[in-house]
Amino acid sequence: MTPNRREIIKGAALTTTGMVLGAMSPLKSQEAAAEKQTKQTSDRPQPSTSRLLAGKVALVTGAARGIGRAIAIDFARNGANVALLDIADPTGGMPISGYRLANESELDEAVAAVRALGVKALKLKVDVRNHDAMKKAAALTVRELGGLDIAVANAGIAIWTTIEGSNEQQWRDTIDVNINGVFNTIQAVIPHMKARNGGRIITLSSIGGRQGVVGNGAYGTTKWAVIGLTKSAAIELGPSNITVNAIAPGPVNTPMYRSQGQLRSGGLKSFEEQDKVVGAMLPIKVKPALDPQDIADTATFLASDHARFISGDVIDVALGYNTIYTA
Ligand SMILES: NC(=O)c1ccc[n+]([C@@H]2O[C@H](COP(=O)([O-])OP(=O)(O)OC[C@H]3O[C@@H](n4cnc5c(N)ncnc54)[C@H](O)[C@@H]3O)[C@@H](O)[C@H]2O)c1
Repeated sequence: MTPNRREIIKGAALTTTGMVLGAMSPLKSQEAAAEKQTKQTSDRPQPSTSRLLAGKVALVTGAARGIGRAIAIDFARNGANVALLDIADPTGGMPISGYRLANESELDEAVAAVRALGVKALKLKVDVRNHDAMKKAAALTVRELGGLDIAVANAGIAIWTTIEGSNEQQWRDTIDVNINGVFNTIQAVIPHMKARNGGRIITLSSIGGRQGVVGNGAYGTTKWAVIGLTKSAAIELGPSNITVNAIAPGPVNTPMYRSQGQLRSGGLKSFEEQDKVVGAMLPIKVKPALDPQDIADTATFLASDHARFISGDVIDVALGYNTIYTA
């Protein structure tokens, strides 16, 4: 999925050096100078495409399962040491009907899967809503894994209820995890990234943060807020060489999406019907929902040197659903 930039640039240089140059008119010499410049640019050392994150340290929240787990594993596959953070307790949060939060054995399994790839893994059983605990988790990551270069604020919840039908607690809980949790994560990692003279922060928004959402108003509100937070942090942290970008996924095969709550809010009876109805709205028909790895591909790209000049952006990974946006 990540474009092979080395090949693209190399291809461009080959085309220009393949041109037959005649006698050196002033125009030709300008062209020759431009060609030399192009060659110098294409000769610039490029990051290895096989181990994009070799030697880096990453902290991923909501890493016990779903998208967070896939990102943690893909980072490890690319050579990063990873701290996997999750609440890892279905009773530890607010009651959510329609699915459950991850449990501790899922977090243990994800940690083991990362370790099996030959890198260091750190298990952090922490609630992203807890500001002090997040600061301690970031500090522990630095102590145990030797630094902190990449953070993914992925942990999130969905409480499927309309704005009219929501009670105050459901509204507050959604805001608390999906906005305050992202803020806590970003604030906790900033000093450590500054100490490394740079870093990468990736947040998880949603196609629900790009348009109004029926039957899940609080969730949609928080995913819009994540984009505002991402862009503001990108301005603030740019001078410290820290990039901040959001990924806005479409439907992804995870417990959150394949949940009774999601079915209920869409007036759907089965996951087959979900695939049929949602799949019909997606321009790319290869599959009716993304796999977590599809989001991990983009996260690894954003965390890598390939994306070092991209900041304040929102990348829709949505099987083309984003084509309905006005901009
Ligand atoms: N699945 C989708 O279709 C989809 C689409 C767009 C955006 N997203 C976003 O992607 C992110 C990951 O979603 P997912 O589908 O993998 O969901 P998921 O429910 O499968 O995984 C979320 C993880 O976050 C953890 N978590 C929840 N609250 C926490 C807290 N307070 N502290 C620490 N950990 C906590 C859970 O235990 C779980 O392991 C979320 O932010 C979600 O909103 C998902």
